[in-house]
Amino acid sequence: MTVSNEPMTSPGWDVTSVRRDFPILEQSVHGYPLAYLDNAATTQKPRVVLEAMDGYYRRDNANVHRGVHALAERATGAFEAARESVRRFINARSTREIVFVRGTTEAINLVASSFGQRLREGDEILISAMEHHANIVPWQLLRERSGIVLRVVPITPAGELDLDRLSSLFTPRTRLLAITHVSNALGTVNPVRELIAEARRHGVPVLLDGAQALPHLRVDVQALDCDFYAFSGHKLFGPTGIGVLYGRESLLETLPPYQGGGEMIRTVSFEKTTFAGLPHRFEAGTPDISGVIGLGRAIEYLEQLDWDAATAYEARLLEHATACLQDVPGLRIIGQARHKVALVSFVMEDVHPHDMGTILDRRGLAVRAGHHCAMPVMSYYGVPATSRAAMAFYNTFDEIDRLAEALRYARELLA
Ligand SMILES: Cc1ncc(COP(=O)(O)O)c(C=O)c1O
Repeated sequence: MTVSNEPMTSPGWDVTSVRRDFPILEQSVHGYPLAYLDNAATTQKPRVVLEAMDGYYRRDNANVHRGVHALAERATGAFEAARESVRRFINARSTREIVFVRGTTEAINLVASSFGQRLREGDEILISAMEHHANIVPWQLLRERSGIVLRVVPITPAGELDLDRLSSLFTPRTRLLAITHVSNALGTVNPVRELIAEARRHGVPVLLDGAQALPHLRVDVQALDCDFYAFSGHKLFGPTGIGVLYGRESLLETLPPYQGGGEMIRTVSFEKTTFAGLPHRFEAGTPDISGVIGLGRAIEYLEQLDWDAATAYEARLLEHATACLQDVPGLRIIGQARHKVALVSFVMEDVHPHDMGTILDRRGLAVRAGHHCAMPVMSYYGVPATSRAAMAFYNTFDEIDRLAEALRYARELLA
């Protein structure tokens, strides 16, 4: 078989040129051009992000907010400029609403810890059956500490939220709706405007887990009118170890600090400590400075792309992948929501996803096999795991064709 990474041309989106921005994509794996289809786990980084992080360490490395020397000022300037980039990107009102954390997981833990302190036994948190463990376990830990109750919006066989059940799950004790914007296991895009409107009718604030949404959708937190929005830099073509919690200023103002230490204080004595203002009150200790700078650069990179063309291209990739994979004998797609990002989860009769993943890897195809940190979703569909092809705007139609062909081969070999 001859394979090449020559992309099929696509009007409006020059994938060949975009791929040149991502040096990692140039390599071969096991003698095949790398087809990286594991973007829901983490995305690849454009050269400008690598250069920004390298440049920071080469020229500007110093701790932020502390020194008056030139390097400290440059580092602080770059760090706070990145905060402004994040603010602009999600259209928050103020940089006071942008808290840097390690990732989506930490963002949700921050809310569970700080917002959670005001909750009492019997108060309820509403989540959904398609959550990543990062939006389940922090609430279970809070349940152990405070006796809160977790309620779960069910899903339908297509992998959509069962909206008919939503309204009845709100009670006078509901204190927060914490729900994913896009499912990492199914690709479903949830109708977040509707969800927020419903929560508002019940006077309940909303946290959105945006880990899988921001890489594919433009998000405006003011237009959405959500109270918290959590996301990870590494899923957004930025580095690992850095993420963001957006919080509505009037709400963040009322929350106690998350962790204590340097950076988050105004004055400290043994008798009493007073805390810094937003957002620093939630950023204890030396932050991941190069990570923040890398994330800021990733956002600037995304801002200069033709986003409508990228989105349209991804939609065509999804359509192509769904059609090709549906045609493979014995393959079942898990998650057939009407509104999906470019992600296809699937199982193949009589073939374990891990064996499948290994065969695909031998052909240079990087897909994820496992429960995707969404075990309740796997239980719902009665499968231990799925394989997942998660695409980004740098993937090609040719890569999808190679995937479909390799799946047919795997089926012949293993089933
Ligand atoms: C929907 C969703 N939420 C949360 C997370 C956790 O993100 P992180 O591990 O970057 O904190 C992920 C990661 O896969 C995810 O897909």
